[in-house]
Amino acid sequence: MGREELAVAFDAFERAGWRGRSEAYKQGVAVLTARLIEPVLDEARVGAGSRVLDVGCGPGGVSAAALARGAEVTAADAEPEMVAATARRLPGVRVEHAILPVLPFGDGEFDAAVGNLVINHVGDPRAAVRELRRVVRPGGRVALTSWYYPKMRATVVFDEAVAAVGVPRPADVPEKSPFQAYGTPESFAGLLQDAGYTEVRARTLEWEHTVDPEEWWTAILTGTARTAAVIARQNPATIERVKAAYHAILAPHLTEDGRATLPAAALLTSATR
Ligand SMILES: C[S@@+](CC[C@H](N)C(=O)[O-])C[C@H]1O[C@@H](n2cnc3c(N)ncnc32)[C@H](O)[C@@H]1O
Repeated sequence: MGREELAVAFDAFERAGWRGRSEAYKQGVAVLTARLIEPVLDEARVGAGSRVLDVGCGPGGVSAAALARGAEVTAADAEPEMVAATARRLPGVRVEHAILPVLPFGDGEFDAAVGNLVINHVGDPRAAVRELRRVVRPGGRVALTSWYYPKMRATVVFDEAVAAVGVPRPADVPEKSPFQAYGTPESFAGLLQDAGYTEVRARTLEWEHTVDPEEWWTAILTGTARTAAVIARQNPATIERVKAAYHAILAPHLTEDGRATLPAAALLTSATR
């Protein structure tokens, strides 16, 4: 498959993969992604009166924090259910159904655009960053995050469990995100530089995510797109084997109260139009 075909297939998978997951995502994975909200808004220099676009808003955590800073928020997501969840959570906020890399906004309409864990879900990251540059004003900021896989364990333990059991990946589930080519601070920065941005900054953030192992298993199986598809589509016996492998992988991370503390890491890149 060429890059364009891969992008189309990846986007199609993502559209189907997020359907029906907004509530589960909010309860589980959003707690992990919340750690990045304030750093993203800081990098985008969002403050009182900023006109900010929260793209791939999910259930609205970034938008809520931007509102708390006094910003004028527009939220957008590719999944209608996420759009509805954010609209319910933040009455009065403009929330649009929109799919990167095509946004229904005018040139320079925003002072800042932020996307927390979204660029790794788009089929064509280069087109996406160009589109985000288009909708911010000259001098405006864009800030984006993705997982930093060399240091990330909180979600990667599921991939490790799948690998340990040797589960075959369903043919329609993409092996990796097209963004994986930009998975270091240098290459993520290069993606933005090549799109014409200036003042590009890229760094990694590391923290610990503490989970109840059973709740985290359910959270990932019900609130993610790709990992959930690989595991949940297996037969019950195979799912049980993956779960046993997951518990074995978590064992060294368990604390006295039965919870597990897992390393988490993200890339945060920001730039000026
Ligand atoms: C991992 S969630 C992140 C949600 C939220 N930003 C947060 O901080 O938790 C990814 C979100 O991006 C959305 N998404 C995926 N591909 C997208 C695209 N091409 N354009 C806009 N949103 C997209 C998904 O529907 C989902 O809500």
